[in-house]
Amino acid sequence: MTTEDLCQKAVDMIERAYAPYSRFRVGAAVECDDGSVYTGCNIENAAFTPTCCAERTAIFKAVSEGHLRFRRIVVAAETEEFTAPCGVCRQVMMEFSPDMDVIMVNREGRTQTVPLRKLLPYGFNSENLL
Ligand code: THU
Repeated sequence: MTTEDLCQKAVDMIERAYAPYSRFRVGAAVECDDGSVYTGCNIENAAFTPTCCAERTAIFKAVSEGHLRFRRIVVAAETEEFTAPCGVCRQVMMEFSPDMDVIMVNREGRTQTVPLRKLLPYGFNSENLL
């Protein structure tokens, strides 16, 4: 899939966001190593802590369908500034694909690509266990 198409899938998911508390809507699209794509949105909760970010929604959908390796993930938000994944989402990405790329899309459709290793230096995953 082209980068433009992958970005569009993430942007489209903004409409699905369930964000009645923050009103901060986010969409995501993750591309697996076989080229398949899973999308997600943020899903908030009245108790706040169960909230799931768009990135994790997309990744967990992919993992639950049997995909464990990812090439890249797009995160789209309606802000001027690029929205970078939170620390929890970075750690979830690190579990599966330390060398994946993170593409951020802002409200104008501009993009910035950053390797996960740069967003989470000295990251911890299964290779660090005894
Ligand atoms: N959020 C995401 O879905 N992804 C990000 O990269 C940043 C934050 C969500 C979580 C919460 O629903 C809302 O944005 C405000 O933090």
